[in-house]
Amino acid sequence: MDQDFVHPLKLFDLAKSQKRFLYTSAPMVRYSKLAFRQTVFEYGTDLCWTPMVLAKEFNRNRFARDSDFTISTNGPQPPTIVQFGANVPLELARASSLVAPFASGVDLNCGCPQSWACAETLGAALMENRELVRDMVIETREHLRRDGWRVGKEKDIDSPKGRSVSVKIRVHKDLRKTMDFITTVLGPDQDRHIDFLTIHPRTRSTPSSTPINVESLEILTSTFGDRVPILVSGDVFTLNTLPFTSHLVPPSQDPQQQQQPLIKIPKLAGLMSARAILANPALYAGYDACPWSAVETFMNKVAKAPLPFKLVLHHLSEMCAPGMGPNKNALLSKPERAAMLACSNTVDLIDFLDEKRARVLQQQEASQDNGAGGVVASVFDGLRRDMQ
Ligand SMILES: Cc1cc2nc3c(=O)[nH]c(=O)nc-3n(C[C@H](O)[C@H](O)[C@H](O)COP(=O)(O)O)c2cc1C
Repeated sequence: MDQDFVHPLKLFDLAKSQKRFLYTSAPMVRYSKLAFRQTVFEYGTDLCWTPMVLAKEFNRNRFARDSDFTISTNGPQPPTIVQFGANVPLELARASSLVAPFASGVDLNCGCPQSWACAETLGAALMENRELVRDMVIETREHLRRDGWRVGKEKDIDSPKGRSVSVKIRVHKDLRKTMDFITTVLGPDQDRHIDFLTIHPRTRSTPSSTPINVESLEILTSTFGDRVPILVSGDVFTLNTLPFTSHLVPPSQDPQQQQQPLIKIPKLAGLMSARAILANPALYAGYDACPWSAVETFMNKVAKAPLPFKLVLHHLSEMCAPGMGPNKNALLSKPERAAMLACSNTVDLIDFLDEKRARVLQQQEASQDNGAGGVVASVFDGLRRDMQ
């Protein structure tokens, strides 16, 4: 069953016409699966990435296909980019062909720093092999074109068969190498090889606790931002506390941020969040901490697009803990989260969440402050009905 998707470049245009960044959720191994993508989509995320899928396994193994990529057959599919790990042009092209009927586009991971990936010349190791990356995206585009997909970028923006091919990169210590990499992968302006580019401005060895390198982002976007739409991945914690400024974000309300002059990045087109959106799937809807309604939405999605129980618990412990932004209010205290993790099945888990939620509502009613998205009934009632 083919589905019609809005072309990712059209989403970039729509966001721009609304004078805001494009909002995207990052590829996250284990986590960015269907129920999570559907949840963040309900809270304003424009474009969602799958976790990295190994193209070679995907091409050869039906079970890998069934477990690595799930789509919704019921209701709107969030605009989805399938991310692959690959190092052979034909492998990426074939895997892309397999998913093209069910996704808005495909993306190549050139950022995974893990040693197993680099040892196999996957992920960040590709940052040392720009010709191979160029060949992979060219072959993929050609293969998709032969299959009847429209890969003409802006020319095919309104075609239901339009699909995108993109890459996600890290930066080098010597930024000139990153400039060379992008120049090669981008190709000629009149027919560039990629639709858009995601930059994670950390090197392969920078820990994620070190802030992103905003200066390198500024240089790369001012050099390439007029030639290709660019997303930033890294430290997108809340919309109010971005580590840079732009005409596409309202002035920060955070007094701490107002004190430090932030670098302006006028050529940046969009944001990608990983750790923060895991903790707060509602961040693009303007919430600075995870609301209960997002927990409810997630559980409803899980009922229809199941995840392994341990993974559900892990998602919930992220969502119920203090998030990545300055608002450190948590839905559950540490002992409460430990009690939640002790639940051994979905029914116990729903009872647990219902009880905690009811307590919070009582407290809010007592203080006349319903700050949790306006949901007042027992939020898990609908879920119970769905499961019966
Ligand atoms: C749990 C987890 C899994 C990740 N998996 C992937 C992945 O499959 N592909 C990828 O390109 N990046 C992956 N990343 C990196 C993120 O996409 C992102 O680039 C990085 O975490 C920086 O963004 P952040 O500061 O918003 O977390 C992962 C990150 C986390 C935390």
